[in-house]
Amino acid sequence: MSSVTDFHTHILPCVDDGSQSMEQSLQMLSMQIQQGVGRVVLTPHFYPQYQELDEFLQQRDAAFDALQSAVKDLPQCPNLYLGAEVHYYAGMSNSEELRRLTVGNTPYILVEMPVRPWNDRDYRELEQIHRKLGLIPIIAHLDRYLGPFRTKRIFRRLEALPVKIQVNTTFFTEKATCRKALRYLQAESIHFIGSDCHSTEHRKPNMKEATDRICRGAAEQKLAYLQSQAEAVFCKM
Ligand SMILES: [Fe+2]
Repeated sequence: MSSVTDFHTHILPCVDDGSQSMEQSLQMLSMQIQQGVGRVVLTPHFYPQYQELDEFLQQRDAAFDALQSAVKDLPQCPNLYLGAEVHYYAGMSNSEELRRLTVGNTPYILVEMPVRPWNDRDYRELEQIHRKLGLIPIIAHLDRYLGPFRTKRIFRRLEALPVKIQVNTTFFTEKATCRKALRYLQAESIHFIGSDCHSTEHRKPNMKEATDRICRGAAEQKLAYLQSQAEAVFCKM
């Protein structure tokens, strides 16, 4: 089994703006297989301001059951893990319900931060998720926030917190950001990568493109580092 883990995907069918059919989900998984991906974390969007948690979980879990049945005939299908991309909100650290949104039954939870400069309260909220609930927030696609906001400050503040950082594959595959991505990976400031794939065409599974770029950027040994970070999550299951 390959050691590559896609930590952020919208492959689960018909639950968010990702895959819109079982057929598309299976095609996306076939692309993952072709690219040697061994583990896929399924992270559909959860927007607490728009949807009840019970309703979301019911839809998500039903889609997962259906997908698991459908992949039985898919040779070398990656191991699938259920999670969610949970949209940040002030006060989320007070909600015991967050435990229902972790990656499998691990303490890790993928959190999508707001697209605006983060303030002290936001950083404190992330810290409280760990302190009050014992969960470890994984900041989803941190690369998205680096352009508009003050990059160095974000990394410095996050490094002081009990959080992990996920970046998207495009951080490595796009010319404009690749060198920066390799620099942060060399410094081990990045813990997980994910394709954040939504379909087979637009925002498609592209883990291989990213790992190839990492190898070409002389950071091949850091693939083992990323693997060890993923292992640290899955060994808690
Ligand atoms: Fe996403």
